[in-house]
Amino acid sequence: MTVRELQDEIFKLKRDTDTCILAHSYMSEAICEIADFVGDSYALSLKAKTAPNKNVIMCGVRFMAETVKMLSPDKRVYLANPAAGCPMAEQMDRDVISEVKKMFPDYAVVAYINTTTALKTIADVCVTSSSAVKICKAIPEKNILFIPDINLGTYVKNQVPEKNFKLLSGGCPTHAKFDEEDALAAKKAHPNALFLVHPECRPSVVKHADYIGSTSGIMDYAKRADAKEFIIGTENSIVEHLQHACPDKKFYPMSMDLVCHNMKVTTLYDVYNCLKGEGGEEIVMDEETRLAAVKCINKMIEYGG
Ligand code: 13P
Ligand code: SF4
Repeated sequence: MTVRELQDEIFKLKRDTDTCILAHSYMSEAICEIADFVGDSYALSLKAKTAPNKNVIMCGVRFMAETVKMLSPDKRVYLANPAAGCPMAEQMDRDVISEVKKMFPDYAVVAYINTTTALKTIADVCVTSSSAVKICKAIPEKNILFIPDINLGTYVKNQVPEKNFKLLSGGCPTHAKFDEEDALAAKKAHPNALFLVHPECRPSVVKHADYIGSTSGIMDYAKRADAKEFIIGTENSIVEHLQHACPDKKFYPMSMDLVCHNMKVTTLYDVYNCLKGEGGEEIVMDEETRLAAVKCINKMIEYGG
């Protein structure tokens, strides 16, 4: 089957099975084209609550599918490719963080949405890269234990100087691999380009940015800007999507190695097989865990809206 034929089959199967396909912005162009909604982690969470369909397929990583299930327990939710995890989400263990919480009883646990369901059950509020600053400002607590991403935590801490932050040393292996010299080399190669950076990058990279934001934030900024050239400091799929959306502008990756292999694992065939009931993984969650974990997501939506 050609890509177009496969996409046509997917559109037909979606209709026949009353399925909504949600895709994170790091998915391939071919997957974004068949999705009902494409966005960053925050926008996907909002969509998860309102999608009218009986079934949802998440093209992204596991914690994103789990978030959909938490918010839509009556829907059947599938992760298109069961191998798609997020290494950052797996970094911190619930029991360890429970012990840390006991050491700092007057600190609110603010968890990046890139965490496991188990860890979410002990978080006070969740945040995403596009909502973290707003939510940390809005919550009543003055003291914040921010987990797991030290880079996003440092960025938020600098934006919210009125609060006290404790950070732990987790992070995204894809973004944290790059340092100031990579940022400077890209800027030297493209001196007229604006540098747009995801806050999962190290502070030594972020400090050179002209704009710092989520995947959707970066895309919206580049589409609206008058500038004609941009260096993209996040997963390289964003370079491809932007080049597709804005053919009159030029987009360069900060590094050719800025690739999240977990996000790349999902293919159009995975979506097709999942729709046929021959692939993917249905997310199953016991009700007690779901109720404990969804509280911090609902709080995120309440403060972030
Ligand atoms: P966004 O919040 O920008 O979607 O980022 C999610 C993510 O995993 C980035 O690495
Ligand atoms: Fe996780 Fe990083 Fe991949 Fe995002 S880019 S899904 S944080 S490993």
